[in-house]
Amino acid sequence: MPVAVTSELPAGAPVGAEYAGRLGERLLALVGQEEAELSVLLVGDHRMQELNRRYRGKDRPTNVLSFPMTMAEAGPLPPGLTVLGDVVISLDTATREARRLGVTVHQRVRDLFIHGLVHLLGLDHERSEKEAAAMAAREEELAARLQQEARRKTMPYLAVNVDHVATVRQARGTTEPDPILAAGICELAGAQGIVVHLREDRRHIQDRDVRLLRQTVKTKLNLEMAATQEIVALAIEVHPDMVTLVPEKRHELTTEGGLNVTGQKKKLKEAVGWLAEAGIPVSLFVDPDERQVLAAQEVGATFVELHTGRFCDAVEEGAREEELELVARAAERAREIGLRVNAGHGLNYRNASRIAALEPVEELSIGHAIIARAVLVGLDQAVREMLALIAGARVG
Ligand code: PXP
Repeated sequence: MPVAVTSELPAGAPVGAEYAGRLGERLLALVGQEEAELSVLLVGDHRMQELNRRYRGKDRPTNVLSFPMTMAEAGPLPPGLTVLGDVVISLDTATREARRLGVTVHQRVRDLFIHGLVHLLGLDHERSEKEAAAMAAREEELAARLQQEARRKTMPYLAVNVDHVATVRQARGTTEPDPILAAGICELAGAQGIVVHLREDRRHIQDRDVRLLRQTVKTKLNLEMAATQEIVALAIEVHPDMVTLVPEKRHELTTEGGLNVTGQKKKLKEAVGWLAEAGIPVSLFVDPDERQVLAAQEVGATFVELHTGRFCDAVEEGAREEELELVARAAERAREIGLRVNAGHGLNYRNASRIAALEPVEELSIGHAIIARAVLVGLDQAVREMLALIAGARVG
């Protein structure tokens, strides 16, 4: 294996061996050394201090160390084989630096990795100013090329949740506004899917809505629901294009957290099984937590929808970036184990693009922000129409 990663970090560390391995392979390809061997060691500050003391005589931790493989150490190598050496990164230092620089931990690790690799390729900023400038330029170029390569090539789909159109209707118990018409307008505007949550208390979407939407939605109907017998039976009868299982509490204003899949595997496996048998793919709405993602796969889900609420609610930039990391990591993990990935909850016009940029995410489910904006951007026309009608009555 060209990139051998050893992690001495505790399980659950924000950057793991998989990320470092993938990053290493992409970097080796970018520098034209796909076949070269490279070792990466992820450590904490304690171990980094020990290495820094032993090899550089500096008794303090540092962010990254590179150890080029010398010919003497490598011994005779098979023809064509290059062994570059070792890059050691301290995640403790990288995390502190990421906070200070206002970047994500993954971004910081990426930059440190590039720095270490450029050292292994023979450049050394400590030798001369000229070489320091050349090294910085090479690092910038590699970071830019990595970013360009990582920019996703396809955009995720947008599925619009029209629950709150029904909320307004139910406020008066009349027939307007009709979520069926709203769904059609969303599709005409380009939405690639429609989502409705049929809650047990039927507070907004009604059975009639789901049945009619099944007939009218031309894109994809995603039925959000709790894993109860009554609703599962209705889903099987109506046959939406997919089902998203969510936790449901009577008194909550909206879905409050992801499903506890690990704690109810048997029940969920049964519900997923019934739906799958009827030919309905199932998504489980989960927090961005590896254990929940793994459990979703165990119970037979096709998708996970990653709960973005904590990312959206985070006020401080640092906390927001940490939440984004969690979503990014869970999305990567889900894709690695063969799950398809959607995301949603709390997304709005300021934060949705950060989640849309995550490569594994196939679809965003957005409701409240779009309906809220529709009320405001549509109000001007609604008032003008009523004024024109009133004026017309006078003249008439
Ligand atoms: N995804 C799930 C599972 C949800 O429960 C909701 C809210 O109904 C959404 C996405 C959409 O969230 P929001 O209305 O905040 O966009």
